Amino acid sequence: MASSMLSGATPTRLAFSGSNFHFRCFPQKGLLCYSKNRKARIIAPNCSLSSARPASQPRFIQHKQEAFWFYRFLSIVYDHIINPGHWTEDMRDDALEPADLSSRYMRVVDVGGGTGFTTLGIVKHVDAENVTILDQSPHQLAKARQKVPLKECKIIEGDAEDLPFPTDYADRYVSAGSIEYWPDPQRGIKEAYRVLKIGGKACVIGPVHPTFWLSRFFADMWMLFPKEEEYIEWFEKAGFKDVKLKRIGPKWYRGVRRHGLIMGCSVTGVKPFSGDSPLKLGPKAEDVQKPVNPLVFLSRFIIGTIAATYFVLVPIYMWIKDQIVPKGQPI
Ligand SMILES: C[S@@+](CC[C@H](N)C(=O)[O-])C[C@H]1O[C@@H](n2cnc3c(N)ncnc32)[C@H](O)[C@@H]1O
Repeated sequence: MASSMLSGATPTRLAFSGSNFHFRCFPQKGLLCYSKNRKARIIAPNCSLSSARPASQPRFIQHKQEAFWFYRFLSIVYDHIINPGHWTEDMRDDALEPADLSSRYMRVVDVGGGTGFTTLGIVKHVDAENVTILDQSPHQLAKARQKVPLKECKIIEGDAEDLPFPTDYADRYVSAGSIEYWPDPQRGIKEAYRVLKIGGKACVIGPVHPTFWLSRFFADMWMLFPKEEEYIEWFEKAGFKDVKLKRIGPKWYRGVRRHGLIMGCSVTGVKPFSGDSPLKLGPKAEDVQKPVNPLVFLSRFIIGTIAATYFVLVPIYMWIKDQIVPKGQPI
């Protein structure tokens, strides 16, 4: 599995347990990080925890209108260009493992399900008729509709921050590679909590923030690359218990995480009580009905797309390094 391919001293499975997620890190010697109550222990050479992320960074595509248009075009090539570099079948299966898809009868929602690549992993364990794919992009969903194993799935348009499901509805909530486009990730995770049944599990798979300066520059121009502890905080604030984070990555990266990863971790949490999340939030951050200046929109869109292109090149660079550098040596 992809996570077991991480290099050298990196453990095959990294999990942080729940509460009091405060770190003491020693970045020069890899990382030794301890939670305050010493429940979680990590020893890893290239951890993404260290870099600060200023609130002012632009993140040109972390906006619903821009994400819509971004996927209007990206959907044409998404399965062929994006997934092979960043989100392989091995990685997907590894990332879904903590979701605990233990019965074919579970009701599962796949939020930001896009072309259905992750859903294909879900329907290996759960009957397709029990799975709903939700996405804001009709163009991405059109690709999902063409996939034979997903024929029985319900496929609907919707917003991750405002899910069209009743409270206490699903046994599992899965969202892969979508949180980075949500203007308010905390709100999306609060929604995950609401729609789950008591004892249900949420599994959010997403990027991790780079530590290498150039990658950080492009990441912050493109979209949200959260830090690992941010995921944990969002889950805990929403009310989840037993929150865990598992690192994932393409096997040819050999565990390198300094460039960030578009799919870098799988975070899970269990809903302990029925009903809505205890977290109270104000109105949504973004009003999608509000008119946008077309010039501003176009400039943001173009710059954001250029930044995204950098991350099409990174996996190619890492793949070449993996071919050249002898096995067993760091890259
Ligand atoms: C990188 S793709 C991931 C698709 C799929 N989950 C996969 O694993 O291949 C991100 C998806 O999130 C969707 N998305 C972005 N913002 C969203 C939102 N606010 N609500 C629902 N879907 C959203 C995009 O349309 C896109 O299809």
